[in-house]
Amino acid sequence: MNTDDTGNDKMVYDKIKNVLSPGQTKEEVKDIYNSWADTYEIDLNPGRYQGPIQAAIECCDVIPEANREVALVLDVAAGTGFLGKELQLKGFRNLHALDPSTKMLEKANTRNIYQKVINDFMSEEPLIQVEADTYDIVASSGGMGQGHIPASALWEMLRITRKGGFIILVMREEYLRHPEYDGILEVLMENMEETGKWKTIKKRIIPKYFEEKEGAVFVFEKA
Ligand SMILES: C[S@@+](CC[C@H](N)C(=O)[O-])C[C@H]1O[C@@H](n2cnc3c(N)ncnc32)[C@H](O)[C@@H]1O
Repeated sequence: MNTDDTGNDKMVYDKIKNVLSPGQTKEEVKDIYNSWADTYEIDLNPGRYQGPIQAAIECCDVIPEANREVALVLDVAAGTGFLGKELQLKGFRNLHALDPSTKMLEKANTRNIYQKVINDFMSEEPLIQVEADTYDIVASSGGMGQGHIPASALWEMLRITRKGGFIILVMREEYLRHPEYDGILEVLMENMEETGKWKTIKKRIIPKYFEEKEGAVFVFEKA
């Protein structure tokens, strides 16, 4: 296990366990992130957590460099803006962030990379301020997990993505087997493929996504 600046791995693991513990309401999850915001970036530094870097790689794969300045991207569960920072480094300039935690978003705002910030949950409920077919990419790094983005939110991600646009999800692989997603998330993904809502561009497993844990990467193109 790596040791970070705090030198305290157990504390980080306890925080992750806490935020993912079963039976919490989405408001409770939000409150935990509000109180984690000050140390989140030290705790989940790139030496330990590869989500934002991997999600940015996928965004670059689907949008050629010449189009990155204009491509409109929604960073879902943006947190403190790790993914936005990576995307900006790769030439993306049209970035929006969505996250229910105001404290995480306050940190993200200090980066001056998001043109718009939406303080809300991603769920099956339509986001009133976002019209259908808006985004070239709807991407999430680390937003999927128990008590976090529900599987049913794929419908809303699909709605707000433009036709021919992309939905990119990067998450811890083992979460696919958590009760909230097991037999639900991947089944819905396949159902969307079979019913012509989207085309699966990529599904891959990556090593060392979080410490020694594997990650799962999904890329879909809206039909
Ligand atoms: C592990 S952090 C990931 C943050 C950032 N994307 C990253 O990779 O560093 C998870 C984030 O998901 C947010 N979140 C939790 N439930 C959510 C939901 N239903 N919709 C959108 N974001 C949610 C939390 O507030 C938190 O900022």
